[in-house]
Amino acid sequence: MSAALKGLVLSGGAGTRLRPITHTSAKQLVPVANKPVLFYGLEALRAAGVTDVGIVVGDTQAEIEAAVGDGSALGISVTYIRQQAPLGLAHAVLTAEEFLDGAPFVMYLGDNLLRDGITGLVDRFRGGTSDAMILLQRVSDPESYGVAELEGGKVVRLVEKPPEPKSDLALVGVYMFSPAIMDSAKAIRPSGRGELEITDAIQHMIDRGLTVEPHEVTGWWKDTGRLEDMLEANRLILDVLETRVEGELVDSSTEGRVVIEKGARVVRSSIRGPAIIGAGALVEDAYIGPYSSISTGVVVRHAEVEHSILLEDSRVEDLDARVESSLIGRGVTIARTSEKPRAYRFMIGDSSSIGLV
Ligand code: DAU
Repeated sequence: MSAALKGLVLSGGAGTRLRPITHTSAKQLVPVANKPVLFYGLEALRAAGVTDVGIVVGDTQAEIEAAVGDGSALGISVTYIRQQAPLGLAHAVLTAEEFLDGAPFVMYLGDNLLRDGITGLVDRFRGGTSDAMILLQRVSDPESYGVAELEGGKVVRLVEKPPEPKSDLALVGVYMFSPAIMDSAKAIRPSGRGELEITDAIQHMIDRGLTVEPHEVTGWWKDTGRLEDMLEANRLILDVLETRVEGELVDSSTEGRVVIEKGARVVRSSIRGPAIIGAGALVEDAYIGPYSSISTGVVVRHAEVEHSILLEDSRVEDLDARVESSLIGRGVTIARTSEKPRAYRFMIGDSSSIGLV
């Protein structure tokens, strides 16, 4: 492969499965271990030597730009590409035609996380002659993904979210393409869900005799589009956390691997890792259990939190039962009040879900 590989990161789309969090913010910016999901992908590209990166954005463009900027803090150079509507992954590729300018590229879905990065795979694609490389992983629910059928190690068919999958090999959201993908993206028609599917575009490449190389990914991979996947990704990332205590601990104890960022205060509390407490957070008379990510400015007081992600400036106070397996949005308050009559008082966004004991 002669021309330098570019990166194309998809960070538009609607994020319907993570509502209400994504009513107000981009799903690619929901933090995993206190770092936006999107940053893991950008760092993986950087590590693979891909520094000229286009980010496809939609309605949440301003927010993505505010977080990523020109990319220099991440060691990359970013060009923003506006997609007018989320009309599909192949549509995103077409929208990026000018940016790609005939170069081969790595396409990375902004909500995907791969433990082992992509460096080895990118090198292999660079050194090879394939027209495309797809990453696959065996899953228990292939109907939720693009699904590949292989014969004798070759890809023969790719189907997007088939109701009756013919294999359990899901398409991981990282693809490597020669410029030949462009003609295929132009040739296909919208799918039943009204999107130009990248899966169909790759199938089109296969049908016209181009080489699509499959590679099975063995390390863990997560598409963080759903709450349970987001919590699982959080768990997996926290599992490789290295202890670092820069905040203040007062009459408190920690156990296991814990990060307490500068400016965080932990008072009369116990933190059982792996867990991360963000800058400026206050944990007082509380318990933070394994697999918790407590973001910047959060307050947890007289409460117990475990296996949860609490986003910036949320407050959890005076609760009798433990908060578990939860994703709590920015600026949310969950607190007991002494107001009479004793009653639940809610102000909750659309599509929220609350489990009471
Ligand atoms: O995660 C892997 C799966 O990703 C693959 O197995 C599927 O074959 C592939 O179609 C894709 O499925 P999803 O339904 O999960 O894709 P989603 O709509 O979540 O979009 C993936 C990313 O691309 C997400 O960060 C939003 C962004 N996006 C999506 C669309 C449809 C765009 O930037 N523009 C778009 O038009």
